[in-house]
Amino acid sequence: MAQTIAVLSQKGGTGKTTAVRHLTEVFRDAGLRVLAVDLDPQGNLSDYFDIDPDASPTIADVLAGRATASAAVHDDVIPANLSLAEAELSLGGRMGRELTLRRALTDVDQAYDVIVLDCPPSLGLLTVNALVAADFALLSSEAQYFALQGVEQALEVIELARDSLNPDLHWLGVLFNIADMRTVHSREAFESLREHVGDKLLDHSIRQSIAYAESAERAMSIFDHRPDLGVDYLRVAEDVLARLGLDEPRRRVSERLALSV
Ligand SMILES: Nc1ncnc2c1ncn2[C@@H]1O[C@H](COP(=O)(O)OP(=O)(O)OP(=O)(O)O)[C@@H](O)[C@H]1O
Ligand SMILES: [Mg+2]
Repeated sequence: MAQTIAVLSQKGGTGKTTAVRHLTEVFRDAGLRVLAVDLDPQGNLSDYFDIDPDASPTIADVLAGRATASAAVHDDVIPANLSLAEAELSLGGRMGRELTLRRALTDVDQAYDVIVLDCPPSLGLLTVNALVAADFALLSSEAQYFALQGVEQALEVIELARDSLNPDLHWLGVLFNIADMRTVHSREAFESLREHVGDKLLDHSIRQSIAYAESAERAMSIFDHRPDLGVDYLRVAEDVLARLGLDEPRRRVSERLALSV
């Protein structure tokens, strides 16, 4: 059975999609079968993975009950496009609306070791569906003074999902993302988060670099575009795999890291 990770944040532009893109790739290279699911009508993850924009069915069809999850898998990605906005609206009026994704994913559960869910930039129904379907929640946090506030709001939604529909949901941690640790500002935000969430804050943060936007534009991974920066995601992936208890793949990432630093 797959372990499912929802990557979320209270705000937009915190690097969620970029994190899902690269964690998926590192996990795959470490020998895991990984399904990436785009849950954002913007379809950024689908673009980043260079999935055909006309690929059909998509996650919208799955949530609307028009397609099975396995039928919507294209190159180990379930893509999204703008039609997901409409699917989310019609989901709102349905019984069991928070459970829709969870039920749909049972169809692909056996075929994968890990399923990574890329949430949209809000804590609405799609993110709630992701949290109800997930075993683990990973928060992506902007490296700003307001980071703590965003993390606390996202944590409340995680608590809500856990208390009502998904008691088995674990909080995996907080990824400090798009960080410029040369600035006092970022370092203070990191320390303040550390004080509040302790070891839930992943030790390694993701450095800020324009190379990520370039890599997204070219639908290329940072490992191919700027391997020197890729080390950040290798370190984060190593930590995440350790937290998931996936020791053999974690060891492979450690070996790769030893060769690249
Ligand atoms: N480490 C980084 N340094 C600099 N820019 C980054 C970094 N990671 C991602 N970006 C860029 O920041 C923007 C937002 O990143 P991304 O799309 O991953 O965030 P998101 O949280 O998924 O956004 P949204 O909430 O809109 O879905 C993109 O242009 C992306 O290329
Ligand atoms: Mg995104």
